Amino acid sequence: MIVVSSGAIHLRDELATLGGKIGGVEIKRFPDGEKYVRVLSSAEEVMVVGSTFYPQDERIIELLLIGDALRERGVERLRVVIPYFGYSRQDRVTKEGEPVSVRVVMRSLGLYYDELYVFDLHNPGTLKFFPGKAVNLSAARAIAEYFQGKLREGLVLAPDRGARGRARAVADRLGLEYSHFEKERISPTEVRMTPVDVDVRGKNVLIVDDIISTGGTMVKAASLLREMGAKKVFVSATHGVFAEGAVERVSKAVDELAVTNTIPTPVSRISVVRDIVNL
Ligand code: R5P
Repeated sequence: MIVVSSGAIHLRDELATLGGKIGGVEIKRFPDGEKYVRVLSSAEEVMVVGSTFYPQDERIIELLLIGDALRERGVERLRVVIPYFGYSRQDRVTKEGEPVSVRVVMRSLGLYYDELYVFDLHNPGTLKFFPGKAVNLSAARAIAEYFQGKLREGLVLAPDRGARGRARAVADRLGLEYSHFEKERISPTEVRMTPVDVDVRGKNVLIVDDIISTGGTMVKAASLLREMGAKKVFVSATHGVFAEGAVERVSKAVDELAVTNTIPTPVSRISVVRDIVNL
């Protein structure tokens, strides 16, 4: 049985079609603003699905309440799939007195859930904070299938060295070559990028990242590729976190922008539901 929290309402129909029985859950608010949750069905094994994008706090509380409610109903094996995991970027103390936020969230979820599944987590090393089995899934299959046939003579690029593995996973599936940009962050909104030794002239290029936030990285990469003579520039990412105006900014700078549906956005054209129901 699958239980869908508010962070996966947009995946509900596809989960039902591909994954089978969806358990009922009532989610509302008390007049004082607190969340109220009631699960309406039960099974021996349950998979709860819900991304924790904005408003992250309330979606996390919801997953905890659903976990507690399902344990109350006697569920034995409880898995949680959080396609986009909020608070994942606060993974270390940078100023004295700060918490490791991702650790707080993972430990809290561990009170109720036996297994945790996420997609392209910012820092996969932080999965160690979850006390049970924790798996970082890849959106490479979904992204590669979406772009199959669109690139022809092309290549896949990562916007920085750290994202090279992701570009490679997509490129391997498409049978294309891959490379990366050297990226240096100057401020939260500014990046300096240097193209690596690769000839993009006359080629279609797909740039793949884990997150698009302000869109600064992708816009910069796309304009560099144009200067270098690339033919078409496609941009994709697992999580479209998109700050205000970012979808428009990136869309204007590239031939196509498509992200996965871990977060619902106007360009969430790539579905990871198949990877979820196959767990
Ligand atoms: C950085 O660690 C991430 O992989 C992304 O490259 C970054 O979050 C993109 O941010 P923006 O869209 O603001 O350039």
